[in-house]
Amino acid sequence: SAELAELVRSHVRDVPDFPSEGVLFRDITPLIADGPAFDALITALADAYRGRIDAVAGLESRGFILAAPLAARLGIGMVMVRKAGRLPGPVLGVDYSLEYGTARLEVRAETVQDGSRVLILDDVLATGGTAAAAITLIEQAGGHVPGLAVLLELEALAGRRKLEGYEVQSVLTY
Ligand code: PRP
Ligand code: HPA
Repeated sequence: SAELAELVRSHVRDVPDFPSEGVLFRDITPLIADGPAFDALITALADAYRGRIDAVAGLESRGFILAAPLAARLGIGMVMVRKAGRLPGPVLGVDYSLEYGTARLEVRAETVQDGSRVLILDDVLATGGTAAAAITLIEQAGGHVPGLAVLLELEALAGRRKLEGYEVQSVLTY
């Protein structure tokens, strides 16, 4: 809703030249640190997805901050999608490209029920590389991805283009 978007916007700090010159970083730490605002966000996500999903996949690390309370609120499981080398095996892995270089995400396939509806949740959608890799992983693990949810979408980076065919919901766009 417009009201929730405004609440989130008022708790996001714009930081010029972080982490490098020329980047305008959207910092969610004030939002997460504010109890009523954090609760309002999780409540809104829970209301939007209740009954429509069987699990929530959180993307390390800021995605975990959102996915864990949403899963607990809905009484469903959370799937941990982690950066390479952090999960004990067996794991599935997907390599993807970043602005500079490559990265790898991993999941334990055993934590994804066959045919279950797994919402992918992260804090920021930028180029979409991370979210696209997460879709591949969840599907390889046997899950169905009914959509993706992000707190902030950075429209200039056109992440949605990498996610065609999937419903992408963002609380706030920049
Ligand atoms: C950030 C953000 C998303 C991703 C978005 O994560 O939390 O996961 O980048 O970028 P993309 O759409 O271009 O792939 P980061 O790797 O900084 O990890 P963190 O959450 O551990 O800080
Ligand atoms: N803010 C937070 N996380 C990010 C951003 C940003 O502007 N860009 C890519 N990941």
